[in-house]
Amino acid sequence: MPLFTKNQLAILLLSVAWVNSLAQQSMSISSPNRAIVVTTRNTPTGEFTYQVRYKGKPVIDPSGLGFVLSKPNVSLNRFTITRIDSAQTDETWKPVWGEVSQIRNHYKELIVSLQDKSGSAIGVRIRFRVFDDGVGFRYEFPQQSKLTHFVVADEQTQFRLSADHQTFWMPGDYDSNEYFYNKTKLTEVDAIAAADKEKDIALKSIIGPNAVQTPLLFKTSDGLYVSLYEAALLNYPVMHLQLDKKNLTLTAQLVPDAVGNKAYLQTPAQTPWRTLIISDKATDLLASKLILNLNEPSTIADPSWIKPQKFVGMWWEMHIGKANWAKAEGKHGANTQNVKKYIDFAAKYGFQGVLVEGWNVGWEDWFGNWKEDVFDFVTPYPDYNIDSLTAYAQQKGVRLIMHHETSGSVTNYERRMDAAFQYMVKEGINTVKTGYVGRIIPRGEHHDGQWMVNHYQRVAQKAAQYKIMVDSHESAHPTGLHRTYPNWMASEAGRGSEFNNAPTLGITPEHTTILPFTRLLGGPMDFTPGLFRFKLNQFDSTRTTVVRTTLAKQLALYITLYSPLQMAADLPENYERHLDAFQFIRDVPVDWDDTKVLAAEPADYVMIARKAKGTANWFVGAITDENSRDLPLDLSFLEAGKTYDAVIYRDAPNADWKTNPEAYVIEKKTVTNKTKLTLYLAKGGGCAIQFVRR
Ligand code: NOJ
Ligand code: CA
Repeated sequence: MPLFTKNQLAILLLSVAWVNSLAQQSMSISSPNRAIVVTTRNTPTGEFTYQVRYKGKPVIDPSGLGFVLSKPNVSLNRFTITRIDSAQTDETWKPVWGEVSQIRNHYKELIVSLQDKSGSAIGVRIRFRVFDDGVGFRYEFPQQSKLTHFVVADEQTQFRLSADHQTFWMPGDYDSNEYFYNKTKLTEVDAIAAADKEKDIALKSIIGPNAVQTPLLFKTSDGLYVSLYEAALLNYPVMHLQLDKKNLTLTAQLVPDAVGNKAYLQTPAQTPWRTLIISDKATDLLASKLILNLNEPSTIADPSWIKPQKFVGMWWEMHIGKANWAKAEGKHGANTQNVKKYIDFAAKYGFQGVLVEGWNVGWEDWFGNWKEDVFDFVTPYPDYNIDSLTAYAQQKGVRLIMHHETSGSVTNYERRMDAAFQYMVKEGINTVKTGYVGRIIPRGEHHDGQWMVNHYQRVAQKAAQYKIMVDSHESAHPTGLHRTYPNWMASEAGRGSEFNNAPTLGITPEHTTILPFTRLLGGPMDFTPGLFRFKLNQFDSTRTTVVRTTLAKQLALYITLYSPLQMAADLPENYERHLDAFQFIRDVPVDWDDTKVLAAEPADYVMIARKAKGTANWFVGAITDENSRDLPLDLSFLEAGKTYDAVIYRDAPNADWKTNPEAYVIEKKTVTNKTKLTLYLAKGGGCAIQFVRR
């Protein structure tokens, strides 16, 4: 097997013959700019450790690597080094869609080949890639006579931290990533107590008091921002982490399958990348492309059918009680007349898609019974005339988005997926929103286990065969696979806007200032922003839930929460009350040539500027938490010598998410790249700006 690809420059550091004498020495590799240094060591007893420093400051203290296999029954944690290689890569690639039009992939690589010294002689390679903005490493099990099929009982990767950092965390859970983020010192993590507060998560599989999810964010007292995550999660379970508070050490906790195993692999095999994004600037963390760079290039040769889009839909009105998914419940939302209204609305205001949930037979009995045969994905309710609607939509230049709620019955979905996608093609529908609410079937499997990870990949691949774009809900956290499968455009996989309607914790004003530092590092989120009505008792006077935001902040979220699929989530009648503000949602793009993260602090504020794809126009979004603040905005990113017409959608001086959320001002200004603005953000507020070059 060739060790290096064509565009890599290979430098063989040490030959096999020298290794015995050097086996106990340490090796270091630095990032291209030398800010990050990874040092590996092999102790006299054969423990192999790695350590990470950033500008001389400790990020990860010497930490162990290894595995326990159950078949063959062997622990892989005492090694002899058999070979060391290094390489570097500097290339630029173009994503099919995204936040920027070009991405530089620039790293140095160290590949350490190890052999188990406990007797099995199994060979393992550890590949480190060190970028200017962080580190990725993974295990590789080469094809070898000593190992073919094997079962992973545990991965023993450790992350030893140098201090008790401020940590942004969610309870470790095999089935849900919809928690609210907690901010505590690492030693104050209490995952059980945090999970107990969450009454609105339908299915919880908590791991234990000291288990947390990735991405995990640290802010250190010496000024570093560090994200611990994973990239290219394929054929392997999600990595959660077990915390040993005494030793400030996190150890990989893989998600088990129905019989308690973690992964079934066959050589040649590899794990996902374990990643650390590191910076002394919060803004740089948000700009990092490390996760994407660690994923494989696109598998779709002709991506011309993949189109970023904005959509509206038959959705929020069911969440807030105007309509129902199930026909038998009496207020069936997905009826022909109602969906026609959404098509008209989409066409009138320039949206490409109309999502329709509750269109298919099965919703009477879809949840809570761990039932296998729920939906067939091809049988519309009798009051939903899909043929006439798809024809009507087409005539209006709009396309329906199909909903496949599997209710966790994935065996059923797998059996029917081909027929379901063929049905979509026949109806001229090319986007599917999938959903995995509830306990998984095969019974005993988890949303985050290897079996489901393989399922999500199969859906992306099969959908691509039918030229279908995918938006998955309740799937495992995204790990940059949208580079490899650009038709898997977005996922929810986190606490999205629907939680605004959840009675217990809802969405705090700071949640959306944490998401870019955590969930969004893995890929686009179908958060469904754009709510314009904040008391959610519109159709049910008993509801007390409120959306904790100002209206201007809802606009800014279209910039600060990147996704190539963005919903305008509210009801047509709620938008028609504020058509002037709605204009921003109509104008905002979902695909960009450039992005500049201008200001950010996790749990406080985020301000981002983006340049619309193929144009000279820029957009800015700024959001704050529960505190009001002024953010200086320097427009030097605009083209020098040009004049821009700015439309500023901002919080009114008396706006406040609690008392006056709908108070906004729309202001027009002429600006250049020399102009300096100060954006006032109200409590729970935001600001959205469009800059059109003259
Ligand atoms: C949860 C999804 O996140 C939501 O968008 C959808 O409406 C419901 N499940 C019903 O499928
Ligand atoms: Ca805060």
